[in-house]
Amino acid sequence: MLELRHLTRDFAGRCAVDNVSLRFDRPGFVGIIGRSGAGKSTLLRMINRLTDVSAGEILFQGRNVATLRGAEKRAWQSRCAMVFQQFNLVPRRDVASNVLHGLLGRRPVLAAIFDLWSEAEITRALAILDRLGIADQAAKRAEALSGGQQQRVAIARALMQDPAIILADEPIASLDPMNAQIVMDTLKRIQTEDGRMVIANLHTLDTARRYCDRVIGMRDGRVVFDGRPDQLSTGIAREIYGADASFNEAATSTAIPADARADADYASAMLGA
Ligand SMILES: Nc1ncnc2c1ncn2[C@@H]1O[C@H](COP(=O)(O)OP(=O)(O)OP(=O)(O)O)[C@@H](O)[C@H]1O
Ligand SMILES: [Mg+2]
Repeated sequence: MLELRHLTRDFAGRCAVDNVSLRFDRPGFVGIIGRSGAGKSTLLRMINRLTDVSAGEILFQGRNVATLRGAEKRAWQSRCAMVFQQFNLVPRRDVASNVLHGLLGRRPVLAAIFDLWSEAEITRALAILDRLGIADQAAKRAEALSGGQQQRVAIARALMQDPAIILADEPIASLDPMNAQIVMDTLKRIQTEDGRMVIANLHTLDTARRYCDRVIGMRDGRVVFDGRPDQLSTGIAREIYGADASFNEAATSTAIPADARADADYASAMLGA
């Protein structure tokens, strides 16, 4: 389904992702773990093409999507929707409009500017909100919702794209435990019921163990573990998180990554800016 071949990203001579090769043969729930700076976000962002690839290939159903440009690149970005730690909704717009923004990548610019949604599209957006248990919030401004509700709106926006893959970058790092569970349960349901692949960067081992059927550990840009969660021993976790950093510390970190601000431009990126 998805294959990464020798995927590499350099930032000014520093290697953020270093020659990563991975195969995803079926639409499972994949967790990526690793300490801060390991390259987790860069890897997801390369798959979605928010970040350009320095070297290597991203094959989706046999086609290299790493070199796509323009409309073809946007079409690919619709197939692999991103969900971010900071939700990246348009705060002052209503919830339903935020969900409909999931369609921006495949709309003519004028229709997008004037929010010209068809009745069928609006009905679909409301049905997705209903499925995620937040239909009653549809008319509210996004900023009026709780964090957990906002993240479900972001997932609804992703679903509006009817993606084959959902890439979630620390989707629960800003949420309290109860909302974190609701959001993870939602992602798991989408993965099992719809057969969509979910690849999520996760900042706690517990979450990875509980929800994932495959866990990938990254360290210094490289994959140092790839296996089932039950194979994730304490020793391996220490190897992933590094001898000098207690993984408990990493597991409780809620620091906002430096790239969160760039992520805030997601909606405009979807417009092809
Ligand atoms: N736009 C950028 N410009 C320069 N360096 C970058 C950029 N984005 C990431 N990096 C660097 O690449 C490396 C990997 O960063 P990345 O954000 O992918 O790590 P991460 O595993 O997601 O970390 P975190 O857990 O803190 O989110 C880091 O050293 C980071 O400083
Ligand atoms: Mg990150």
